[in-house]
Amino acid sequence: MMKSFRRSGDLAITGANARWYDKNSRQTRLAEMERYAKELSVFLPANAAALEIAPGPGYLSIALSRMGNYHVTGLELSQDFVDIARRNAHNAGVAVDFRQGNAADLPFNTDSFDGIICTAAFKNFREPTKALREIHRVLKPGGTALIIDMNPQITSPQISHYVRDQMHMKGLPALFMQVTFNYFLRKGAYSRDELAVMLREFPLRDCRIWEEDITLHVKLTK
Ligand SMILES: C[S@@+](CC[C@H](N)C(=O)[O-])C[C@H]1O[C@@H](n2cnc3c(N)ncnc32)[C@H](O)[C@@H]1O
Repeated sequence: MMKSFRRSGDLAITGANARWYDKNSRQTRLAEMERYAKELSVFLPANAAALEIAPGPGYLSIALSRMGNYHVTGLELSQDFVDIARRNAHNAGVAVDFRQGNAADLPFNTDSFDGIICTAAFKNFREPTKALREIHRVLKPGGTALIIDMNPQITSPQISHYVRDQMHMKGLPALFMQVTFNYFLRKGAYSRDELAVMLREFPLRDCRIWEEDITLHVKLTK
């Protein structure tokens, strides 16, 4: 189902869905966002320029900007999320440059960023190969990009454990989340082999793909 939605356009999250996503992320995913921010920060030099693509409500960018003297930018398709992320950064007392734009057409100069991260969003892009090409273009030589998204090969019991033990969700909200993961997100996600094929077209210094809980992590160095 997600694949056919994606063919007709990028899957931006807007309006009430964006407000629900913000609340749910604040309640269940802050630790995960912090973990991903740390995963990128080990590759960042002091005063690094970092980019998050599709930050949604912005919690990863906010966590990253607290981890070092970084200049963090978040590029998000949904203007509703840009407004929410700006408000969240303001409330957190950090400076992150959240702006509206499309991953397939990044409004940045070539070789601009020391590090780039994109989580739970790559499968939403209508033009994933174009987005990868753009990530590669705006990354500085020697810079690192991390793309983290759902692993389509995970099982339903793995999803249930994740929702219960990592997201700490219970009852009806947990059931709703499991159904979303099982029948919508998992089916739209790219496998390790599909990602490897897309990545073949770029001259990379290093590229690794590995599994972690319910996700696949791609780390590429330009
Ligand atoms: C499931 S959310 C993930 C948000 C956040 N990264 C996280 O981990 O919670 C997917 C995000 O991708 C955004 N999105 C979809 N297509 C996009 C595109 N082409 N360019 C930029 N953002 C896009 C959506 O608006 C949404 O905020």
